[in-house]
Amino acid sequence: MLSYRHSFHAGNYADVIKHIVIIEILEHLIKKDRAFDYIDTHAGAGLYNLQSGHAVKLQEYSQGVGKLKREDWPELATYFDILAKHNSDGDLKFYPGSPFIAMHFLRGQDRSWLYELHPKDAELLLKNMAKITRVRVMREDGFKGLLSLLPPISRRALVLIDPSYEIKTDYATVFDTISSAYKKFPTGTYALWYPVVDRKIIDQLERKFIRSGIKKVQRFELAIAQDQFDTGMSASGMIVINPPWTLLDKMSQVLPKLVTTLGGDGAFFKCDELVGE
Ligand SMILES: C[S@@+](CC[C@H](N)C(=O)[O-])C[C@H]1O[C@@H](n2cnc3c(N)ncnc32)[C@H](O)[C@@H]1O
Repeated sequence: MLSYRHSFHAGNYADVIKHIVIIEILEHLIKKDRAFDYIDTHAGAGLYNLQSGHAVKLQEYSQGVGKLKREDWPELATYFDILAKHNSDGDLKFYPGSPFIAMHFLRGQDRSWLYELHPKDAELLLKNMAKITRVRVMREDGFKGLLSLLPPISRRALVLIDPSYEIKTDYATVFDTISSAYKKFPTGTYALWYPVVDRKIIDQLERKFIRSGIKKVQRFELAIAQDQFDTGMSASGMIVINPPWTLLDKMSQVLPKLVTTLGGDGAFFKCDELVGE
């Protein structure tokens, strides 16, 4: 039984880095007219009310997106455009999750597959997506669902894999799933989100990618504090396979600024290539 609800965490620093990375990838994909697929294996509810009881309880967004001012971030214009689209009166009341961020880019020829297992969030996602035609919401396991879709007919895709890791085997499952997916569809772009709660687990995950034979792997991480033990998440990052050529440059500009704005004592970032061509 899943208990994680993203509504407690929406708009936190982990969402900020994750969503900036997928926006850069999606901006690159739409440069060509050719259709692409967006596959979100862990989609969440799609849209979050930052004034809801859940969001107000932890106030995580106020330490994340709430600290960013549009005028300071010309390089994140699209991110702010998407936020503005969901907050027409100017105040930040709603935070769009990955499905709505992707919808900003999808064109008539593109398709989207959103997987969500939590019954309440799956229902919310269905409601939120009800008027959008080129989307399929699947109340199924996103890991298995992904493998059943590959390779996509379009032969172009962004796959976002964004588990909450409340099930500890997810750390192994993400790697095994991506390895199998890559065999079926080696040219897709895969974006994997990870939390740093125990650095050893992430070091191990990165080593698996480095030894896997998978090429073109980059890593982007935002740590708001030094690595800690037993105090929850101190950093989070994205591992991206087959990134657009612009991503490393973009994140090299954005991450130092994000660390200064969102980080505390001991904050740091990582922005590098784990495996080359
Ligand atoms: C971190 S949240 C997703 C946030 C969303 N991707 C975003 O950026 O807005 C992870 C979601 O995955 C769902 N989930 C957990 N295990 C799953 C699985 N095996 N398949 C599909 N969804 C799953 C959880 O219910 C939760 O809503």
